[in-house]
Amino acid sequence: MSANEKPAIGVIGVGWVGLVTAACFAELGHGVVAVDIDEHKIEILRSGGTLPIHEPGLPELVERNRERLRFTTEIGEVLDACPLLFCCVDTPPTYSGDADLSRVEAVVAQIQDGGEQALVMKSTVPAGTGLAIRRRKPELAYVSCPEFLKEGTAVEDFLHPDRVVIGADPGSDWAADAVADAYAPLGGQPVRTDVASAEMIKLASNAFLATKISFINEIANVCEEVGADVTEVARGMGLDERIGPKFLKAGIGWGGSCFGKDTIALKKLAGNTGYHFQLLSAVIDVNELQKRRVVGKLKQHLGSLTGRRIALLGLAFKPNTDDMRDAASLVLASRLRGEGADVRAYDPIAEQRARELLPEVEISDSPLAAIDGADAAILVTEWPEFAELDWEQMARRMTTPLLVDGRNFLDPARLRAAGFTYEGIGRPADGGEAEAST
Ligand code: UDX
Repeated sequence: MSANEKPAIGVIGVGWVGLVTAACFAELGHGVVAVDIDEHKIEILRSGGTLPIHEPGLPELVERNRERLRFTTEIGEVLDACPLLFCCVDTPPTYSGDADLSRVEAVVAQIQDGGEQALVMKSTVPAGTGLAIRRRKPELAYVSCPEFLKEGTAVEDFLHPDRVVIGADPGSDWAADAVADAYAPLGGQPVRTDVASAEMIKLASNAFLATKISFINEIANVCEEVGADVTEVARGMGLDERIGPKFLKAGIGWGGSCFGKDTIALKKLAGNTGYHFQLLSAVIDVNELQKRRVVGKLKQHLGSLTGRRIALLGLAFKPNTDDMRDAASLVLASRLRGEGADVRAYDPIAEQRARELLPEVEISDSPLAAIDGADAAILVTEWPEFAELDWEQMARRMTTPLLVDGRNFLDPARLRAAGFTYEGIGRPADGGEAEAST
C-alpha cells in the first residue's frame, strides 16, 4: 500500500446496511471487497443489474465506484485483502424475541483469533455480544460501530453522520483508530467508548425514537378527547430545544425493520438479566393499538365494515422505500379483512412486495382506481404525490367520501372543501375548532 492509498475495507453481508456501507467507503476512495453467501445477489451486483434494494442515490454510487468495488461469495478474498472487516449480516428476532446471532457467529467462526484483521460490528447486536466474542477469541481485535442509517436517506446519512460511535476495549485500540480514520473525512462527531456502551447506544437510540413517537401518539389520542390539535401541540413542544421537533409526528405508528425488532430486543435483553423495562412495554403496546384505532374511526362513520370497500393509500412503512417490513398497512389490511371489508390499495413502488405479502388485497395501479367506489380511504404512507392529487375528483369517485389521514399529511381544510369527511390522528373532527389553523 502506498502512502496515500487508503486501506481496503471488507464488508461481510451485502444487505441494505452492507451495500450502503460498501458503496460509501468506495466513494471515499477505499477499495472494497464485499462478500455474501447469496450467489444470486452477488451475480446481480457484479453484472450491474437492478440493485436488490430501493435506496435513493445508491445505484449511482455503485456505478460510479464500480472499479473500487469487488463482490464475491468467497470470504477468503475478504480475509486476505482487508484489515477491517465490517460485519453487516442481519440479526432477525428469534421466537423468544432475542436477536438471532447465528449469522454473526458464522462470521466470527471464520476469522482467525490473533490474525491481522479486526472485526467491526455494524450488525445490531445485544449489549454483551462483543464481550462474549472476545471471550472466545481473546486476541481478535474487535470494534463496535453501530449504524444509524434511515431507509430512504441512507446514503446521505452515511456520508453526513451526526456522530460516529466507535466502541473498543483495551487491546483493540489500533482497530478503533483505523475505523476512526476511515470515518474521519465524513466529519461526524466521534464518540469513542467501550464496546458494551457502544452496543447500548444503538439500542437505546432506536428505543428512544420509538418512545418519542409512541408518546406523541398517546398525546394525539388525548387531543381527540379534549378537542386539541396534536400537530399544533407538537409544534409548540418541538420549539423547546430540550425536546426538539423531530420524531413528533403523530400517526398510525412506527414500522420498518429496526424499531420493532430493536425495542423488543432491548426489552428481552433487560428481561434476560431480570430487569423489567416497563416503559418499553408500553411503547410497544401503544404502537400496536395505534394502528387498530383507525378501524374504530371507520366504524364510527360507517357502522359495520362487512361488505364495505376500503382503500389504502400507501403500503410501504414510510415514503421513499419499497420496504413493507412491519408496515402499518399489513396490520390494517388484515384487520379490515377480519371485519369483512373488501380492501384495495395503491403504492407508487411497493406494488411488487405488496402482491406477495397481501394476496387478499387488490393492488391498483393508481390512487383513483384504488378509491373507485370505496366507502372510505385511509392514507397509510405519506408519499409526496398524494399531496398533489385531484381530491375533488377522488371524492366524486368514492361511494362515501370519507378519508382517515393516518399521517396527518393532508390539509384538512382543502380535503373538506373537496367534499371529504376528513379525520386525522389527534386532530379535531369535522367542524372542530382548530380546523382553520391547519
Ligand atoms: C430507523 C432509525 O431512524 C435509524 O437510525 C436506524 O438505524 C434504523 O431504524 P428507519 O427504520 O429507516 O430508521 O425509519 P425512520 O425514518 O426512523 O422511521 C421509522 C418509523 O417511524 C416509520 O414508520 C415512520 O413513519 C415512523 N415515524 C417517524 C412516525 O410515525 N413519526 C415520526 O415523527 C417519525
